[in-house]
Amino acid sequence: MSNTNNQILKNTNAQILDEFNASIMFDKELYAQDIKGSIAHSQMLCEQGVLTSDEQTAIETGLLQVKEEIESGNFEFTLATEDIHMAVESRLTEIIGEPGKKLHTARSRNDQVATDFRLYVQDKSVQLKNQLKQLVATFVDVASKHTTTLIPGMTHLQHAQPLNFGYHMLAYANMFKRDFERFESSYERNNYSPLGSAALAGTPHNIDRFSTCEKLGFSSPTNHAMDTVSDRDFALEILFNISTCMMHISRISEELILWSSYEFQFVRMSDEYATTSSIMPQKKNPDVPELLRGKTGRVYGNLISLLTVMKGLPLAYNKDTQEDKEGVFDSVKTAEISISILNEVIKTMIVNTDKMEDACKIGHLTATDLADFLVQKQNMAFRTAYYITKDVVAKANELGKDISELNIDEIRSANEELKDVSEEIVMYLDLRNSMNSRNSYGGTSSIQTENQIKYFEQWLEKN
Ligand code: ARG
Repeated sequence: MSNTNNQILKNTNAQILDEFNASIMFDKELYAQDIKGSIAHSQMLCEQGVLTSDEQTAIETGLLQVKEEIESGNFEFTLATEDIHMAVESRLTEIIGEPGKKLHTARSRNDQVATDFRLYVQDKSVQLKNQLKQLVATFVDVASKHTTTLIPGMTHLQHAQPLNFGYHMLAYANMFKRDFERFESSYERNNYSPLGSAALAGTPHNIDRFSTCEKLGFSSPTNHAMDTVSDRDFALEILFNISTCMMHISRISEELILWSSYEFQFVRMSDEYATTSSIMPQKKNPDVPELLRGKTGRVYGNLISLLTVMKGLPLAYNKDTQEDKEGVFDSVKTAEISISILNEVIKTMIVNTDKMEDACKIGHLTATDLADFLVQKQNMAFRTAYYITKDVVAKANELGKDISELNIDEIRSANEELKDVSEEIVMYLDLRNSMNSRNSYGGTSSIQTENQIKYFEQWLEKN
């Protein structure tokens, strides 16, 4: 575009372009990190003899005043100062004059934004990790009350084998523990200080990156300035970690929706988390888990969006990466609220143990146990046992009973091969016995479930 055209555009569209270019409307979220980074930078510059101690004191005091103004709502954010970095620096200079103009020595907004954003992501990773720990504790707590409560285990959403409800809850404890670990390992992988990378190639000033790194709580400085200013992997990681966590949240939400439906009635959610219909007064809708499930979509969107922004970007910094922040802020807020609400929903849900147990009596859940019994105790070939079991299922259907409810005479009359079968078989068809027979490591028996609860209790204590 020629200069004249550019000028025309500026005159007519100046406001629009300022708005288009600016990030202050959203990156003000990073004010605390920006000020923290600037204080560390000024202290380091003073240690290195680049700033006098008077200048540094003025800068630090001024920065704290800016922080106070922002926190008390007395700071005016304007488009004139494009982003949070310029906003803080220009207000600082208004307050303290000349020394304020020295703060930007030996840095660039490129390493500044990388530092601020990384500090934010690190802080939030720790916070989300702590929230996930609470959530794991809640699932473990519910599990510990239900190690003998029967619930039909499903595959393909069809009744498969009896489980205990505690075991089912522990599946979620495991998912959220892995999420916890993902935030933890991302934190470790990304705990490097970008500050001092400057625009893309380092700086001729005599800086000490190890000093600012230590002041900011990173484990060491990043070791390649150009990579650092163009890298947003840390932001992608938190977006992925949140997406996976929300995917898990959407799965328990879906189960809560099903379980609280009239057809299941396995749980009742506290009235706070269900709303009434504006037209059907008898209804209680599971809006909260539906929203948790729905919010998973926006979080995935934020991940795909940043992956797409980063795709094919040439090195090093490009303004495209200004698009990195809003999605991360949105995903973090969504995850914070979602985890805390889910935690309350699980804590307050009422478990209808009778309905769960009744549901186990539909669908002949212990049919496999019968076949296994015939193989193990009668030395029968599996395929033969399979067909005999089919006859027992047919018998139960004929009597309008579940296989677990048959007495020994009914079983014996189902097939010629069973006419002398040992009475022990009745026990094999019993639902609770069937659940407890799956005592292999990681299986659903009450003993295994209790072992897993102990494991989680130790984990919760250690973390
Ligand atoms: N607001 C910018 C961002 O969010 C800060 C970095 C700008 N750097 C630059 N050279 N224009 O990415």
